[in-house]
Amino acid sequence: MNPDEMKKTAAKAALEYVESGAVVGVGTGSTINHFINFLGTIKGKIEGAVSSSESSTARLKALNIPVYDLNTVSDLPVYIDGADESNHYLQLIKGGGGALTREKIITAVSKKFVCIADQSKLVDILGKFPLPVEVIPMARSYVAREIVKMGGEPVYRENFITDNGNQILDIHGLEIMESAKLEAQLNNITGVVTNGLFAMKPANVLILGTPEGAKTIYPK
Ligand code: 5RP
Repeated sequence: MNPDEMKKTAAKAALEYVESGAVVGVGTGSTINHFINFLGTIKGKIEGAVSSSESSTARLKALNIPVYDLNTVSDLPVYIDGADESNHYLQLIKGGGGALTREKIITAVSKKFVCIADQSKLVDILGKFPLPVEVIPMARSYVAREIVKMGGEPVYRENFITDNGNQILDIHGLEIMESAKLEAQLNNITGVVTNGLFAMKPANVLILGTPEGAKTIYPK
């Protein structure tokens, strides 16, 4: 089974977390694209969706799934999204697709975060995948210098602008032992919009696609 088939397996299993009559939080990425397709098959069951990116919004709308402005939604039982890495506490690195800020906002609003991924995303220590940091463009060099002082190697993601009009620095060379502390430290640098560590509010459930089927993992 290739990684894309495993992503599809995880995405299908996540349908069980979709609540009837509710608005569903929908993330961004290739795993979520499978989920959106599956969601289309049960769209009559839900009220609609909130979306973490313009690309997911376009896919949802193409399937005639209503997409709401998050400001109009006060109750969001579940948010479903992928990840670039998860540790065994279900703390995540996200933002490979650059949608980290909207993803973190929807995570904050949701009651339950169900993460879906192929089995390669589960790791013992976060950081092999470069950690994305969204920055206000004029602050990029300053933020990069501050990250170097912290021991990271920031790399400017060239030719990429987020849906919020900002830029991304990807931090290489980290072995993240204290995820929540690092998440807070990075967010505290002036000019940082947010970073791709989801440690202070980790996922509640991780569904991994494996050749043997979907495997559900809870935080250690
Ligand atoms: C986008 C994300 C994605 O969830 C993450 O990059 C995983 O993507 P994929 O499902 O394509 O492997 O955080 O900002």
